[in-house]
Amino acid sequence: MKEPNFKTDYIVIKALEDGVNVIGLTRGTDTKFHHTEKLDKDEIMIAQFTEHTSAVKIRGKAVIQTNNGEMSNE
Ligand code: TRP
Repeated sequence: MKEPNFKTDYIVIKALEDGVNVIGLTRGTDTKFHHTEKLDKDEIMIAQFTEHTSAVKIRGKAVIQTNNGEMSNE
């Protein structure tokens, strides 16, 4: 598997229904929600992990592509 590179790697999230939430969680000792993005059906978000964001939580039906492959929570 390819080594992750936070400068060049993106995650792609495609919403399969209205109201999919993409939630960014903070990097560091406390893990908190810092941003919520709402996607409607067929909207796509392309995002990176950054110095501020170490985890992403996705609520709702979506197709997600990462370095680890493609997955769907449908
Ligand atoms: N300001 C945030 C950051 O630089 C924006 C962000 C980046 C983000 N990746 C994200 C928000 C993933 C939600 C999900 O970290």
